Amino acid sequence: MRLKDKVALISGAASGMGAATARLFGREGCKGVVVADILEKDGKAVVAEIEKAGGHATFLPLDVTDEAQWKAVVDKTVATYGGLDVLVNNAGISGSAEQDLYDTAAWNRLMGINSTGVFLGMKYGIRAMKRGGSVINLSSISGITGQGYIHVGYNASKGAVRLITKAGAAQHGKDGIRVNSVHPGLMPPMRTSGRTADPVQREKTLKGVPLRRAGEVDEVAYAILFLASDESSYVSGAELVVDGGWTAV
Ligand SMILES: NC(=O)c1ccc[n+]([C@@H]2O[C@H](COP(=O)([O-])OP(=O)(O)OC[C@H]3O[C@@H](n4cnc5c(N)ncnc54)[C@H](O)[C@@H]3O)[C@@H](O)[C@H]2O)c1
Repeated sequence: MRLKDKVALISGAASGMGAATARLFGREGCKGVVVADILEKDGKAVVAEIEKAGGHATFLPLDVTDEAQWKAVVDKTVATYGGLDVLVNNAGISGSAEQDLYDTAAWNRLMGINSTGVFLGMKYGIRAMKRGGSVINLSSISGITGQGYIHVGYNASKGAVRLITKAGAAQHGKDGIRVNSVHPGLMPPMRTSGRTADPVQREKTLKGVPLRRAGEVDEVAYAILFLASDESSYVSGAELVVDGGWTAV
């Protein structure tokens, strides 16, 4: 049990990598896993799966752009499980559905959910980590390199996550709080994907991936698990790339 007695809060946990992480955390002995998302039905289904497997979980509605909701979710987590040890800022939207790569409304949406959502999560989550803790922020390989076929706001918002993470590591280490980022490469498409869900585009992309395949959600969940657990007790401010070698070439 790699997370025995820890309390974890995961944003965007109703789907994809967030849901896989929530299920894994449930199996690894968490005292409580808070599945927070705008999607109530899917989030509750994830909670039911965790509980069926013998874990402990709660769904809480959360729009990561809403400061009052973040405060309420963190307060409720602490009231329900007695504290907070692990925060996974995972909620995000894709930049691959936009035709106009400089669309201003899309820029604001991307920055609001992908960057401000992480900032607000850290603002309220870290305050609640009274016994130290681990924050894991989902960036992307798009936070490290640029892609020509996605909205510039996706690269910008994920690049911001990379540096919000390092600022957090610098500021909160003295309180025993570690902050790291995870950078997935080509994964199953997001709910909001456009071009990156297109099989032709995916085949093209795979040619540049040394492992010649897309990643699976559990392969990212296990990377997050390492950073959440005490096994990574001296790792802070790191960028863990989970991309089949894409950014190595
Ligand atoms: N899938 C990929 O190829 C890929 C690659 C690199 C990084 N990422 C990042 O990984 C994270 C998870 O992506 P995924 O593939 O599981 O996507 P997904 O679309 O399957 O899941 C994203 C989740 O975030 C939730 N969400 C969206 N907006 C929200 C908001 N305002 N408030 C609360 N929840 C909200 C969605 O409801 C959904 O449950 C994202 O941050 C994404 O940018 C994904």
